[in-house]
Amino acid sequence: MMMNDFGASRLLAERRPGYSLDRAFYTDPAIFALDLDRIFYRDWLFTIPACEIPKPGNYVTHRVGDYGIIIVRGADGAIRAFHNTCRHRGSILCKAKKGSAPKLVCPYHQWTYELDGRLLWARDMGAEFDPAAHGLHPVHCRDLAGLVYVCLAEEAPDFEAFAAMAAPYLAPHDLGNAKVAHESTIVENGNWKLVWENNRECYHCSGNHPALCRTFPEDPAVGGVMGEEMPERLVAHFDRCEAAGLPSRFRLSDDGQYRFARMPLNVGAKSYTMDGGIAVNRWLGRVPFDDAGSLLKFHYPTTWNHFLPDHALVFRVTPISPTETEVSTKWLVHKDAVEGVDYDLDRLTRVWTETNDEDRRVVEDNQVGITSPAYRPGPYSALQESGVIQFVDWYCDTLAERLAPEAMAAE
Ligand code: FES
Ligand SMILES: [Fe+2]
Repeated sequence: MMMNDFGASRLLAERRPGYSLDRAFYTDPAIFALDLDRIFYRDWLFTIPACEIPKPGNYVTHRVGDYGIIIVRGADGAIRAFHNTCRHRGSILCKAKKGSAPKLVCPYHQWTYELDGRLLWARDMGAEFDPAAHGLHPVHCRDLAGLVYVCLAEEAPDFEAFAAMAAPYLAPHDLGNAKVAHESTIVENGNWKLVWENNRECYHCSGNHPALCRTFPEDPAVGGVMGEEMPERLVAHFDRCEAAGLPSRFRLSDDGQYRFARMPLNVGAKSYTMDGGIAVNRWLGRVPFDDAGSLLKFHYPTTWNHFLPDHALVFRVTPISPTETEVSTKWLVHKDAVEGVDYDLDRLTRVWTETNDEDRRVVEDNQVGITSPAYRPGPYSALQESGVIQFVDWYCDTLAERLAPEAMAAE
């Protein structure tokens, strides 16, 4: 039987390209459920930097829609992910956001699992009971150069093309030797797509981001999708970095889901600090000069990252409800960098702490305005908002393809 798509296909077919979406895409619980089911439950999702669970038994839990997962480092050093539901009667296994445990023990009847998901012990289950048939349900999991991705689908889409493009860009940043210096988690009262739309342009920067604008260029070519029209000075920056062994050229995947580009910061700026100077004296990675700018990566629907000569920033986007989105930010530094000696935490974190709060405010204002029945889709600036157009096109094309009658009939 064909599943109801709540009018989403019609709205997608009728949408005006280059315009913001119909109100329903930002507010309707039925479309939010489709976003979860057709996008978040199917695609590869960034979860944590691998350095967050450096030792066997370290784990982090995460929730995406109805799915709770555990990401844990095994005794063999490998990172695996499991559904956070016991194979006995389904209780949640790990309730903490993060922790460390030699085994995973269910709080209900103490079924005990190895860190690789095998059921080790279950009391009084009888002679017929087969522990081997009751291991934790695995979740597809990949450690991409220190960034842990999972996929909730039974059959995961291809990861190799993304991994092949990403690996050379990430290698010089040596995330395997990172540690989390600081993390923040905020909930923005806005639809997850508004969080992304805001991220994909700097049209709003001069009016909202006094701290970020000290170092991050407002130049639309830096954040957008300029195609053949990439300005000469950006090309010169790519060439200089590449000559020094740093993959840097703008590359966008064919399907538009991910992009890499090492972009220059404002003249004289080295890192995201209030004075533009370096934030961490002990650098994370092997970038050979301090004005290499920031390697910008995005991978829809869950992450954008900045990789600087001295530190890295990883952001994670998690939809909570049609009008709530969690945004987590982690500041990564070299694992041997010492707070108070190699870096000052306030200096390291101030620009993006302020920027995140400013972005939260504009996203929430955007959501409030869209909630008005008087809202109508408005035009994006082709010059300033090419990145937003690119995101919205990716979203609409992806959702439309996964709502197509053939796709739905096959389910
Ligand atoms: S539900 Fe986990 S041990 Fe019973
Ligand atoms: Fe912003």
